[in-house]
Amino acid sequence: MHRLKNIHNINEMRSGARSRLPRLVFDYLEGGAEDEHNLSDNITSFDHWKFKPRRLTDLTTVDTSTHILGSPASFPGVMAPTGLNSLFWPNGDIALAKAAARVGIPFVLSTASSDSLEAVAEQVDGEHWFQLYVIEKSLAQSLVRRARDLEYRKLVITTDVVVNGKRERDLRNGFGLPIRYNLKTILDGLTHPAWALDFLKNGTPQLGNLADRDALSPEARAALLSRSMDAGFTWDDVARIRDLWPGQIILKGLLHQDDLDKCQRYGIEGVVLSNHGGRQLDTTVSTIDALASLDTRNLNADVLIDGGIRRGRDIAKACALGANATLIGRAALYGLAAGGEEGAFKALSILKDEFEGCMSQLGCSTVSELEGNLVENSNQQATIQED
Ligand SMILES: Cc1cc2nc3c(=O)[nH]c(=O)nc-3n(C[C@H](O)[C@H](O)[C@H](O)COP(=O)(O)O)c2cc1C
Repeated sequence: MHRLKNIHNINEMRSGARSRLPRLVFDYLEGGAEDEHNLSDNITSFDHWKFKPRRLTDLTTVDTSTHILGSPASFPGVMAPTGLNSLFWPNGDIALAKAAARVGIPFVLSTASSDSLEAVAEQVDGEHWFQLYVIEKSLAQSLVRRARDLEYRKLVITTDVVVNGKRERDLRNGFGLPIRYNLKTILDGLTHPAWALDFLKNGTPQLGNLADRDALSPEARAALLSRSMDAGFTWDDVARIRDLWPGQIILKGLLHQDDLDKCQRYGIEGVVLSNHGGRQLDTTVSTIDALASLDTRNLNADVLIDGGIRRGRDIAKACALGANATLIGRAALYGLAAGGEEGAFKALSILKDEFEGCMSQLGCSTVSELEGNLVENSNQQATIQED
């Protein structure tokens, strides 16, 4: 695709997304909660970690591949679950799943996806995981059964959306589904004709997993759109889901030491340290700093992090600080919005290539050689020097 040719990094991909999407949709993709400190901290905190490369190591082969909870991946990346992907590109989930499969990393389908569990399983050959939002316990059980029967490989339970984050861009824009037409939204569409044509051709994206199911009340659909989850969902309910799900379970959104300590008791195989990309509680700790400060030694689970991954070097820093892998959110969505499957493939490939280059520059020929002594935190250094 011509317009992707001159894109060399994720920031340029973001500009591509911004110019194709109407403001209302770009703001939904980009926005964080309240003052968006958490959104920017996630990104800048990575840059406070500086490299101390090793020299004169044998780099005749550099292997970026790894295993994430036992599943092979071409680099330590997983396509993060994101809702309403068809707002960015028609059949957005299928496009993202295909891009992830081509790059060789797992794809996580959101409960709030536009394409259904069934459509993705039928149309894309790849490693698929399912992300569960618990809106109602009975609905959660039926989604888990569907994912199990379709052989989704892992279940990711998102824990950080008890209530919706206060996303002020969306409030200002009156964002919601179906999109409400007024002069502002019509002008927004008219000035982004490529997106508007796709939208007119394909109609308003649906919540694919909730369409045409008897079990679904309009209330459940509204709750998912407004992200009001079951506030009574606790560790005991995780244990009940454990009984339904034969495979591995990953809890997404943990950031507290007490929660990590509980994981072993509940037989959790993976955790994602995440603040939902800064979209929930503003001024939550950035995830790379959380990774550095939490004690994961007794955790019998793989540790993943997400939030602010925009460069391959960010992935290297996460691995050096003990993460098994990273989830890639907006970086891939910029690609999807700029150029569909090709754009998402290019965004993921940019990250993979940058990661490989970074490994070489650090003197690492395998992912397991990325160790804590290759990075230091410049903020902590500054404090120590002042003392
Ligand atoms: C547009 C958008 C939609 C999202 N939807 C979901 C979702 O449905 N389920 C979920 O667990 N996380 C969701 N997330 C959070 C991502 O899974 C991930 O935690 C976050 O995007 C990581 O931050 P980053 O985008 O800065 O990399 C969403 C994020 C974005 C940007």
